[in-house]
Amino acid sequence: MSDEGTARGRAAAPAGAAARGPVFVEFGPRPEEQGQLVRPGAREEYPPDVQVRLESDAASIVGRYPDSRSALLPLLHLVQAEDGYITPAGVEFCAATLGLTGAEVAAVATFYSMYRRDPTGDYYVGVCTNTLCAIMGGDAILAALKEHLDLAPGGTSPDGKITLEHIECNAACDYAPVVMVNWEFFDNQTPESARSLVDDLRSGGAVTPSRGATLCTFRETARILAGFPDERPGAVEGGIAGAPTLVGLRIARELGMEAPDPADVTGLPESEAPPVTGHGRKGD
Ligand code: FES
Repeated sequence: MSDEGTARGRAAAPAGAAARGPVFVEFGPRPEEQGQLVRPGAREEYPPDVQVRLESDAASIVGRYPDSRSALLPLLHLVQAEDGYITPAGVEFCAATLGLTGAEVAAVATFYSMYRRDPTGDYYVGVCTNTLCAIMGGDAILAALKEHLDLAPGGTSPDGKITLEHIECNAACDYAPVVMVNWEFFDNQTPESARSLVDDLRSGGAVTPSRGATLCTFRETARILAGFPDERPGAVEGGIAGAPTLVGLRIARELGMEAPDPADVTGLPESEAPPVTGHGRKGD
């Protein structure tokens, strides 16, 4: 069968384009492209002992939700904790546990970048190369780590310790440029400090982020994200916002700025306007 008339075939030329000939638009995966969640050696199913353990863990997760399908995100973290990434076995486990189709599970797993599609090292090192971090040095940090580790983004070191990736804004722009390791922040990094960081990770020593507890491995982190207790000392201690985070508030106060009255902004009477909370509100 020719491509013509199939999803990979000819698409209608837009109006006015006839004089320039037909327009071909490729839909769907390329023939040489593997399935999005199929990697060589990936588990297709769990051995019985693992299956039993996962079922027990999953039951405690699913029981927290009134609607079982709401447990999909933590269940994906659970199977990621088992395999280090999302495997066909993990997709099938989530689908069977929650009464979903594999396609539904895969659609979610491939939407969120915290779910990995390839085997992941003990430490997932993400360099923010979004706009602010990039111009503050994120691009230089990524280049330094690529050269230092001899890895392209997405690659894992041969010792299985480090997976390098460039990632989008971590919402820590006030500490740019930032690097995340297993989703924990390392603020105000430089090429030198980032090289030193990955060396420390590879040597196996304890490494502590700018905020929070000493790092654990990617799989251990995934289990915590699945909702199991984080028992690392200091893991759940609160903290106050740092000076870079509060600089806008400080300047606003120095200039005598105040948040506008909600009624002025929304046009609604004050009784119907949404509440404004926090510092800077009139009368605070
Ligand atoms: S741009 Fe890097 S944290 Fe926002």
